[in-house]
Amino acid sequence: MQVRKVVIPAAGMGTRFLPATKVVPKELFPLVDRPLIQEVVDEAVASGINNLILVTARGKSAMEDYFDIDPGLESFLERKGDKGMLQRVREISRMIQVASVRQKEPLGLGHAVLCARDLVGLEPFAVILPDDLIDAAKPCLAQLLDLFARTGKSVVALQEVPDDQTHMYGIIQGQKTEAGVYRVESFVEKPPPGTAPSNLAVIGRYILAPGIFSLLESQERGVGGEIQLTDALNSLAGTDGVYGVVFEGLRYDAGDRLGLLKANIHYTLKDDMLAPGLLQFMADKIAITKK
Ligand code: G1P
Repeated sequence: MQVRKVVIPAAGMGTRFLPATKVVPKELFPLVDRPLIQEVVDEAVASGINNLILVTARGKSAMEDYFDIDPGLESFLERKGDKGMLQRVREISRMIQVASVRQKEPLGLGHAVLCARDLVGLEPFAVILPDDLIDAAKPCLAQLLDLFARTGKSVVALQEVPDDQTHMYGIIQGQKTEAGVYRVESFVEKPPPGTAPSNLAVIGRYILAPGIFSLLESQERGVGGEIQLTDALNSLAGTDGVYGVVFEGLRYDAGDRLGLLKANIHYTLKDDMLAPGLLQFMADKIAITKK
């Protein structure tokens, strides 16, 4: 069955980026000149998905405005004769169909996904966590969709992480079925240091069977007192089956201050106009710090 919809949970308060997030949703922070959420929506569209379900919260409606048509801005750019920017602005508001739902209480990622249940319906769907930016020759979500097409089972993105970081992620235990592919036996969310069953961490890309919703509905609270998607995935692995794919690509954690800076440097260096200036600036800074 074709995956037509992507759920993007974007209801978090962004406490790591306070005070900026007091008024600006972190999903709208700039990645060079585009908001972070644009990058992950581009990935979904490039993977063949045309319906976006945003899980939002109070104070974050600017995200919906961003993907909406702005007739005032379009006629302003038209009068100015700025055809390039006009085309960019038009593309953004027409590239994907957007529906949104509010998560009224911060009860965790699993609960945020559950909020999208009625909008998803009874079909398999994708989830992208907008904190995880992945620059890849083949979009990460498309890599997951390939495995979903072959197996018909739910799929998660995996990345090997060092021992001292396993406590920050959902971690899997699984059987390797081919290069880079695992049949997941169990999931554990943020295992205490030294207890992780492997170094294979779940990164924020999922293709989920709709059966996940009934599991989420009855899911007890887990780590941090939150309803965890990882715990429901653990149940799904034992019944329906879940696969994991070690994706190819570079990942940045934009939910972390240093991670967001690194992502900005990465994407700036991909821009021919900006890269030379940034490299010169960094060379000067390094020279000063070495003195
Ligand atoms: C979430 C998930 C976790 C996953 C991580 C990937 O955690 O709960 O399983 O490994 O995203 O970024 P968070 O980073 O929101 O704490």
